[in-house]
Amino acid sequence: MSLTFVIFGATGDLTSRKLIPALYALHRKQKLPAGTRVLGAARTDMTDEAWRNKLSESTPKFVDQAFDERAWSDFASRVHYQRFNIQDVADFQRLASRCAELEGGKDGVRVYYLATSPELYGDAVVRLGEAGLARETAGARRVVIEKPFGIDLPSAKKLNETVHRVFEERQVYRIDHYLGKETVQNLLVLRFANTIFEPVWNRNYIDHVQITVAEDVDVGKRGDYYDGAGVLRDMFQNHLLQLMTITAMEAPVRFEADAVRDEKVKVLRSVRPLSNDDVARHTFRGQYEGYREIVGVADDSQTATFAALRLQVDNWRWQGVPFYLRSGKGLSCRTTQIVVQFRRPPHMLFDANGSLDGDRLVVQVQPAEGIQLHFQTKVPDAGMRLRQTDLAVDFRQEFSGPLPDAYQRLLLDAASGDASLFARSDEVEFAWSIIDPIHAAWKGGAVPPLHAYEKGIWGPSACTPWIREQGREWFDVCPVLG
Ligand code: BG6
Repeated sequence: MSLTFVIFGATGDLTSRKLIPALYALHRKQKLPAGTRVLGAARTDMTDEAWRNKLSESTPKFVDQAFDERAWSDFASRVHYQRFNIQDVADFQRLASRCAELEGGKDGVRVYYLATSPELYGDAVVRLGEAGLARETAGARRVVIEKPFGIDLPSAKKLNETVHRVFEERQVYRIDHYLGKETVQNLLVLRFANTIFEPVWNRNYIDHVQITVAEDVDVGKRGDYYDGAGVLRDMFQNHLLQLMTITAMEAPVRFEADAVRDEKVKVLRSVRPLSNDDVARHTFRGQYEGYREIVGVADDSQTATFAALRLQVDNWRWQGVPFYLRSGKGLSCRTTQIVVQFRRPPHMLFDANGSLDGDRLVVQVQPAEGIQLHFQTKVPDAGMRLRQTDLAVDFRQEFSGPLPDAYQRLLLDAASGDASLFARSDEVEFAWSIIDPIHAAWKGGAVPPLHAYEKGIWGPSACTPWIREQGREWFDVCPVLG
């Protein structure tokens, strides 16, 4: 099969850090069809050779295994470059001829990857259409669109409309790299390839769910972008809501793109809308000290770098079970974890003072990928003293070799036409409709207050009493890396 990846924004960070290393790794593992080629397109004037040289320097820094020079040089011979300006219609015609030339007139799959700055997505799609590059007369044509997909509901709707004027939904792959993470896919397996979890995966047994994406890094050099986006748009609208839908969804009838996405959309539709009063009570926001000194950030910025939300999913399975979603920059450690906190036993035989924790299932999404089940055990030779112990699976010990980067799986899926791990248009829009009212209420009012926090801790200290008043505790545990 002829397969061509056309990367728009070829000289950007995403291409050198993620896309090329992932394509090279897939090539090395012989997961791409023989003869697959990559055509990078960007404004810089460069030859194929010059781009290959740049990539030979950057790629070894971003691969997770020893760099294989032979595999690289074989891969690099399939990498090409074209100077290209998205605003120039004639450049699309030149790109069409170059693709045809590289493909030797063979029918096959072409994947257009939009890794440009997001304001250009609409123009790029329209011009691909005008140049006849979306037409499927000589094989499949697909477009991968990076995040952010819009900055709010109206802009996402507008972008969807533009995209649908050119591509059919089945040709569109809206990427959220969290869905390509092995442990996120494993959550589907944990839930739907085992029988023991399903009977307890509901309001009868679960007290609440906590989803935390903590980052120890700060905003760094991304002040310009981040001050407009903040943690809600940067992390919640996409990654956290995706993790929540996978945790909360019903079993799809088949593992097929639309069946999976139908179930995810149902979860998003069931999230109870937050009124302004709810936003004041059920959301929490913070900003780390020193954030306003970053280049590109306003001196009086009110942008949140930390947030916690309490969402309710109004359906039979989850009625009354809060989902706590939390994310922030400049926190204690890097960890993404999903904690399913079970209820305590209805009648405690051994717990005189009521201090025993309920059982807990912890899915460690990263970096110490694994699953732990926490439960009570009798301490030997200590009367009826109990202690919480755990059963644990550590992915890196259980399966040899490093876990592949999320982009490997997603690029492969886009090439083979499997959109199960990509967001559909309605999914993206429902996600924005959850985030927009919170964003608007935060912007317009003083509640909840914006709490300052020092870097290197679990966010503002007031977030602990906030959840405690609701009878719960954050699971603030940094992963232990083996
Ligand atoms: C990106 C955000 O989508 O995800 C970044 O824009 C964030 O701000 C990153 O740092 C986190 O991804 P990962 O895979 O490192 O957890």
